Amino acid sequence: MCGIVGYIGYREAFPIIIKGLQRLEYRGYDSAGIALFDGNQINLSKTKGKVEDLKNKAKEISQKGSIGIGHTRWATHGVPNDVNSHPHYSNSGELVIIHNGIIENYESIKKELTKRGYIFHSDTDTEVLVNLIEEVKKTENVKLGKAVQIALNQVVGAYAIAVFDKQKPDEIVVAKLGSPLAIGIGENEFFIASDASPFIEFTNNAIYLEDEEMAIIRLGKEIKLRKIKDDAVAYPRILELQMNLEEIEKGGYDHFMLKEIYEQPRAIKDTYRGRLLAEQGLVKMSGIEQNMEKFLNANRIIIVACGTSWHAGLVAEYIFEDLARIPVEVEYASEFRYRNPVITDKDILIAISQSGETADTLAAIKLAKERGAFVFGVCNVVGSSIARETDAGAYTHAGPEIGVASTKAFTTQITVLTLMALRLAKAKGVFSETKYREHLTELATIPSKVEIALQSNPLIEIIADVYKDSTNCLYLGRGYNFPVALEGALKLKEISYIHAEGYPAAEMKHGPIALIDEHMPVFVIATKKGHYEKVVSNIQEIKSRKGKIIAIVTEGDEQVRDLADHVIEVPETLESLTPLLTTIPLQLISYHIAVMRGCNVDQPRNLAKSVTVE
Ligand code: F6R
Repeated sequence: MCGIVGYIGYREAFPIIIKGLQRLEYRGYDSAGIALFDGNQINLSKTKGKVEDLKNKAKEISQKGSIGIGHTRWATHGVPNDVNSHPHYSNSGELVIIHNGIIENYESIKKELTKRGYIFHSDTDTEVLVNLIEEVKKTENVKLGKAVQIALNQVVGAYAIAVFDKQKPDEIVVAKLGSPLAIGIGENEFFIASDASPFIEFTNNAIYLEDEEMAIIRLGKEIKLRKIKDDAVAYPRILELQMNLEEIEKGGYDHFMLKEIYEQPRAIKDTYRGRLLAEQGLVKMSGIEQNMEKFLNANRIIIVACGTSWHAGLVAEYIFEDLARIPVEVEYASEFRYRNPVITDKDILIAISQSGETADTLAAIKLAKERGAFVFGVCNVVGSSIARETDAGAYTHAGPEIGVASTKAFTTQITVLTLMALRLAKAKGVFSETKYREHLTELATIPSKVEIALQSNPLIEIIADVYKDSTNCLYLGRGYNFPVALEGALKLKEISYIHAEGYPAAEMKHGPIALIDEHMPVFVIATKKGHYEKVVSNIQEIKSRKGKIIAIVTEGDEQVRDLADHVIEVPETLESLTPLLTTIPLQLISYHIAVMRGCNVDQPRNLAKSVTVE
């Protein structure tokens, strides 16, 4: 995710773009840049860091001009540094572009352009795109709008772009597929942005581009909208905005946490985009392909992480052992680093971290490397310390997670780890082709099944109201869903401050059952696949001690419905993929209980988003 802003009109563009970028920083904040046209030349400034850093750096350039574009980045291709920051020039220096999204086939285009003499300064897919537009413009002898259209028909991926041509400084061309793009319409001025927050104080009128649409925005003229594919004219749908600024930044949700819960279908898709090719029966992950021998010859995998990421690691233990038949140990990073672990060069250490900055995880990596292990990172933040420290890795591409309680990071981590296990299962030949393909096809349906799971939100809100004043809760699950029970309990305690414990359901009778009485809510994950009958027996045990049962069940389940006080359904899926669905209602229940208790959901007391101290 990145944020883009543009302005063309009669005001000074610089302050509008800087302020707009600051409002979009929730979309990415590892680097920022701006390009302004002062009537003679483009003045460009960009830097690793936040928009505040850009503001300082941009003192070195002329800040004059009424046309400009700016960008705040969440790196996808290339680490965050000054060179990889946007905007990017084309080779001639005539075109300048900002881009939010991923161009999946950029490598082949880059090769082709390199053969034609183009030089690339950054590692980004965006620099490839702007040079492709330039090449088309030159070879086809067309105007910028047409060149953008032809070029976009050659790329695969997602984008929201804004590009302008030094030779035509009264015009900005924008286009969208997959990433958001809004155009604010003022009197003789236009604004471009990833959402309406950068221009809300200037105009209430906006056009939200649809996928596969582009617009040529020319001063003093009507906006020309057209389809990217076939040149058909599209008609602008001008909306009157009624949101306030805060609502827009949170996308209309009351809290970032809720927004991020609802982003999960999109986030999971972004995680497997370009990696899961279900129809071709392929999983492609460069970090695995390049190190396949190491994975195939490894004695075992050791997973280290903290908190929610550790829970994702526990799910991965089931996945790797079950699907790929590789022995796995999962460790709290903080314990691992201090217990003189036995590590050999036949071990692979997988470090999981949303922020990529967690001090204990970083220290565990350093220790494992010192002792000869190969270290693979699963991080969300591109270019983070852990991403840099590891030998190889795979990003989750969940986009920035602002709510302190991790939600989409968890499900996207599980998605990456599932892809890894499937790729290794295939390479080891431990899976039949039918079973392998069944998993790939099913994984591709998960985003739409998460959408369905989210539809239980109104019911979950009612259930939350019943249990909001509880002082203790238990969470039970078995197999793949035991770590989900731990994660459900963690979510509740960290944002609602209610004491909660997660257990493997069968462990209940070894102690926690003593806690159960009519005041104890017990959340039980009882999906059809995976020890169903055993979990039903555990539910009976709770019921006979008058505990309150809130069960997460597979759609259409009747048996548990008869026993439980409340049931929340999730769609049916393969056992190994159930955590991606059963987690959703537990996230929502914690969210609603915390809101009802008046807690600060996005910034719970005593916590921080990235724990850089041990
Ligand atoms: C819980 C939560 C924390 C983090 C933990 C590890 O909602 O957010 O438990 O999961 O601090 O952080 P990362 O994944 O950034 O290493």
